[in-house]
Amino acid sequence: MSVEYKGSAAGCKEDDASPSPTLRPNTSQDLSSAPRRRSNKCISNRSGSQGDPLKDNPVRRKRSKQVEIDPDTGLKVGEPLYNDDNEMSGRVVSPTLKQLVHNLFKSGGFENLQGYQLEGHKCITSVDKRLEREAGGSLLYGEVLPEGVARLLDDDHLSVRTAKVLYDFGMGTGKLCLQVFLEYPHLDQVVGIEISPSRYKIGAQALRRLAQRRGFALLADNEHRCKVLQLLGNRRRILEFRCGDAFATLAERSEHDPHVSFVGAADIILLNTDFPESCHASICELLFRMALGARTASYGDLRKMYLAVQQRQLRAGDSKAANRAFPMVHYPINDDSDRFRTTWSPKLGHHFFLFHRGPFLKKAKV
Ligand SMILES: C[S@@+](CC[C@H](N)C(=O)[O-])C[C@H]1O[C@@H](n2cnc3c(N)ncnc32)[C@H](O)[C@@H]1O
Repeated sequence: MSVEYKGSAAGCKEDDASPSPTLRPNTSQDLSSAPRRRSNKCISNRSGSQGDPLKDNPVRRKRSKQVEIDPDTGLKVGEPLYNDDNEMSGRVVSPTLKQLVHNLFKSGGFENLQGYQLEGHKCITSVDKRLEREAGGSLLYGEVLPEGVARLLDDDHLSVRTAKVLYDFGMGTGKLCLQVFLEYPHLDQVVGIEISPSRYKIGAQALRRLAQRRGFALLADNEHRCKVLQLLGNRRRILEFRCGDAFATLAERSEHDPHVSFVGAADIILLNTDFPESCHASICELLFRMALGARTASYGDLRKMYLAVQQRQLRAGDSKAANRAFPMVHYPINDDSDRFRTTWSPKLGHHFFLFHRGPFLKKAKV
């Protein structure tokens, strides 16, 4: 399967106060809501009347429409970002979407797409390092590139098309969550959780800009949580960033349905992080709590991780561990050659492991 890679959003300006009103999309799109930015409006007259006697006709001129352009995207105000099925299943991410996410992050958007000098690397402080030690997390950093995200979520892989709720455990600065929220307006809830306060702060700042520029309501904005609400027709869409240990959510109930756990409410949970061994037992517990049919992508092989945890539990005298078979089903398409573009492997791509939650039937072979 080939992936068309278009690289960074060429021509992006670093400062979003200097928008590029002439940027045109190369696809028709459907961004859920009309941009509502009131300041910095760019008004362009698209009648293009220069030197054209017909167009210079005063009656004709009177009729020509003034078009308000959204400076973040270069689209007409109200013009949707995505609206066709190709975009939903496609692996080509629109330059317009990249431009939008770039502008929300100012520097540290999609302009610097490779290597180990991303904002998420550079922002780390001693506080982050202390929290990493205390929570047993890992600050190792890298991002799945926009085309890698689109491929992960396409119909052959995690099938975002049939999802409503997506979580990113270890969201970094939250670019993936923002891309997904804007690209797939049928999703009702996208939640990113990040252990590093410095990375969370960059993401929260981008969320604030999103709320301000697109007229979304800011439901929470503090050092632990930043949450925006988009009203789309009669639907409520939530994009939320949290600062903390992602595995602390294992004990949580869903805000929207108290009968379901937070984890059980998800259709897709991304675990694109090299979680240290101290997190592995929690990851195994998470797999059991996922809803049947829910999907996950992981940095490491969850099957191997599960067996290692199970062995440790058996050695520690937990005889029940032997009865609990690995509850996930590996995607047949996801062999070694199934790769996804990342900042640390932009050409070859990184092999993430893809599973969906299957029924818990068999007795474990230990
Ligand atoms: C490889 S980055 C992934 C960024 C983003 N999800 C992506 O795929 O582009 C992994 C992130 O997970 C965070 N992390 C590690 N352990 C965590 C934990 N227990 N809870 C929340 N975040 C964690 C790290 O700080 C890092 O920012």
